[in-house]
Amino acid sequence: MAQKIFIKTFGCQMNEYDSNRIYDSVKKIGFQKTKNYEDASCYLLNTCHIRDKAKEKVYHEIGRVKKIFRSKQKPLVIVAGCVAQAENQEMLKREPYIDLVIGPQSYHKINDTILNHIEKKKKIEETEFDAISKFEYLQKIKNESKGVSSFLTIQEGCDKFCHFCVVPYTRGPEYSRPFKQIIDEAKNLVDNGAQEIILLGQNVNAYSNEEYRLSNLILEIEKFSELKRIRYTTSHPRDMSDDLIEVYKNSKKLMPLVHLPVQSGSNKILNLMNRKHSISDYYKIYDKLKKINSNIEFSSDFIIGYPGEEEKDFQDTLQLIKRIKFINSYSFIFSPRPGTVAADLKLIDKKISIERLEVIQNLLFKNQTNMNKSLENKKINVLVENLTDDQTQVFGRSEYMTSVIFNGKKEDIGKIMSVKINKSNRSTLFGELIVNSNQKVA
Ligand code: SAM
Ligand code: SF4
Ligand code: F3S
Repeated sequence: MAQKIFIKTFGCQMNEYDSNRIYDSVKKIGFQKTKNYEDASCYLLNTCHIRDKAKEKVYHEIGRVKKIFRSKQKPLVIVAGCVAQAENQEMLKREPYIDLVIGPQSYHKINDTILNHIEKKKKIEETEFDAISKFEYLQKIKNESKGVSSFLTIQEGCDKFCHFCVVPYTRGPEYSRPFKQIIDEAKNLVDNGAQEIILLGQNVNAYSNEEYRLSNLILEIEKFSELKRIRYTTSHPRDMSDDLIEVYKNSKKLMPLVHLPVQSGSNKILNLMNRKHSISDYYKIYDKLKKINSNIEFSSDFIIGYPGEEEKDFQDTLQLIKRIKFINSYSFIFSPRPGTVAADLKLIDKKISIERLEVIQNLLFKNQTNMNKSLENKKINVLVENLTDDQTQVFGRSEYMTSVIFNGKKEDIGKIMSVKINKSNRSTLFGELIVNSNQKVA
């Protein structure tokens, strides 16, 4: 009988991609995915270390698993992802219930590590940085993802070392996969039915392999006639090169939403963060893209209450948000991360950070609500991804990634449908079907 694996994923889209690929791999040694963790003979936690008490959350989760399996056979417990990388050996020492610890650049070893453990009952930790071997291995294992919208990691790691961020330590140095390897995987995803591909990287627009850049990848992937939409995330303002900006002129499938984290509207804070770009650089990118296509919209990430942030800096961030009118953004209070430069800086008053977060979120949410409201009574194109939970309607996404619910049918999944929006709230648009516009791209 097949062994059952339960995979719980935290963090960014790259972790979601990794979890899918881990599953593609362990399938080869007889594991089958289960949605019910109580059935699992292997419990894998793919972790994120970006904010808060990430490490404690993992131990808490393991404690929960321990309780659930108290009167049953203990599952094989694997901690993968960025906490595994950051904590490595420590995890095995602190929590004997954990059997294997495996960092994000070691997933090519996952099958051998599991088999080795089953045979020898030895606790194993694998946390070397070896992106080349990982992707060479994964290339040989088909990406079985069958989503209408599929992730494809093209780049890993980061060399920028923003003072607040753990990614350079948990994901290692920047590595860009070979162009052909990516195109082959994209073809595979399209053959599996992907209508949208989201190219991923911690610094996706820093992609550089031989003479190829992200712009070349987008234009090449676009040639797959069945593919309707292309997106990429997450990009850094410094790598928003002219060739990439030009793609917005030439591409028919690249979506008009640019997720470009800025973190703060104050040059002083950007400097303290070691962001290596200024606000005027950001405006230049904005202006260039808007000139190419005024329908391009922006979303961003903000860190509030970074050490040294004064009222004036915060007001600058509000100013930036008022000018750019980001349509969807993430904002969090600064969380000191162990091992980073900003880890020991003097924090600003927590109450002030909480108040500022509330102000900024109100403004961001207002932009989002207004953007959605402006679409009421208009016709938009929606890529249908699935039936709603109650199976009575369908769920899809607009060109700007906004969730749309309308009266479609199961047969519409994977198609672009024309929908008239009747109602909206901050996060969702509700509409009704007009005509099937499947022939059109976008
Ligand atoms: N590479 C992207 C960039 O340069 O903006 C960001 C990737 S990071 C995985 C995602 C987001 O997490 C960042 O944009 C930042 O806003 C947030 N983040 C990272 N470290 C943080 C920290 N220590 N405290 C709060 N938010 C943090
Ligand atoms: Fe982290 Fe992004 Fe800065 Fe790299 S560029 S250190 S991933 S925030
Ligand atoms: Fe988290 Fe690692 Fe992604 S820290 S945000 S899972 S790169």
